[in-house]
Amino acid sequence: MESFLIKGGVPLHGEVENSGSKNAALPIMAAALLTNEPCVIRRVPDLSDTRFMVQILESLGATAHFEGGTLTVRAKKIRGYADYELVRKMRGSICIAGPLLARLHKARISLPGGCIIGARPINLHLKGFESLGAQIKIKGGYVDATAKKLSGATMFLGGRAGSTVLGTANVMMAAVLADGVTVIESAACEPEVVDLADFLCAMGAKISGAGSPTITITGVDKLHGAEHEVIPDRIEAATFAIAAAATDGEITIRGARADHLRAVIDKLNEAGVSVEKRGANLMVRRKGKLKPSDVTTLPYSGFPTDVQAQMTALFTLAPGISIITERIFESRFMHVSELARLGADIEIEGPSAIVKGGRPLSGAPVMASDLRASAALVIAGLAAKGATQVNRIYHLDRGYERMDAKLRKLGARIQRVEEK
Ligand code: EPZ
Repeated sequence: MESFLIKGGVPLHGEVENSGSKNAALPIMAAALLTNEPCVIRRVPDLSDTRFMVQILESLGATAHFEGGTLTVRAKKIRGYADYELVRKMRGSICIAGPLLARLHKARISLPGGCIIGARPINLHLKGFESLGAQIKIKGGYVDATAKKLSGATMFLGGRAGSTVLGTANVMMAAVLADGVTVIESAACEPEVVDLADFLCAMGAKISGAGSPTITITGVDKLHGAEHEVIPDRIEAATFAIAAAATDGEITIRGARADHLRAVIDKLNEAGVSVEKRGANLMVRRKGKLKPSDVTTLPYSGFPTDVQAQMTALFTLAPGISIITERIFESRFMHVSELARLGADIEIEGPSAIVKGGRPLSGAPVMASDLRASAALVIAGLAAKGATQVNRIYHLDRGYERMDAKLRKLGARIQRVEEK
């Protein structure tokens, strides 16, 4: 297993390319199952998660060629069954259910199971499928969804924490070939949902309202192949912006979308960090001392839960009290005890982390637990005095394309080493 060895204390400087979005690419790759014609998807980040999705598409019978960020996939003849061994590796694979149900009127998918950041049930996905007329059976750890035919319906897809991103994506994909009109209320408004809708429309689907809480889909008989370029990864951009702020550096993030990052930019400004749009790029630098602030994670356009851990790491460096409240996932503070190993002072009170910031961090060996918690540990390691070893970086490789190489290009002293 690999680790990152980081020698901290170097301000990041220079330019970094913003990769394509993992969370947009995964459902878009699944959407290619909706047609038997070829689809070409560009700017797909090279990650273990996207490579898993390619394996899943191939296990269903599709042909796929993934090279240099471009995926060409053709689902000429497919089957409706995805087994546990593949699905268990990546929760996001649940988003093949909608396309299979739409195209084959049957889908047998392994239930994703628990996750370290929360229970993450799929009840809303299944509720949406049932509203379209599917019968759902759960047996032996599998979901069996079947339908004689799918008919458009109006449904409310809000849950305990508000809207669901992949639930909205899955139901939207199930509805594009249904008879009649589907209206999804309390739909997720994330840019990744909009990007999926754009791809589906390029395939011939009829969708309006994506990006708003009410999405309307008018079913069509057939979809055709299409070409699409995936949006930039706003979570990767936010992660690099926070790394620059934590090291008191100055960087340019090439190809990042400021309009997808409003809540993050707003909170960074409050913390004393300037984020300026320069053409298609973002320029990030600190304006003097970091300041404490409060953050609450919410569905889009609120502050993204996928940036919570990184922001928590930043606040350990801001003198004073910061409060971070996690409203989306029940147990997304795994990074807190590891940050404490670097000398951070953080207390958990219910859904909030109370950070007493300003004490300098010092390097130590730490353990990655999930994708975004690992990014927080890398940021803290870059800011800490001395050496930090971040173990189990396979978590990072799931969602960050060549993170160590990109950071080295910005001057960081980081190496990928075999874990001892
Ligand atoms: C997507 O997960 C992202 N993953 C997550 O990013 C992200 O954290 C999350 O959206 C929220 O923004 C991908 O896009 C692949 P949800 P998703 O359904 O769709 C509850 C990362 O780090 N819920 O919007 O699975 C759920 O438990 C990952 O890149 C139900 O109760 O998240 C959670 O509390 C981590 N029933 C809340 O809704 C359901 O049927 C939001 O989850 C579905 C969800």
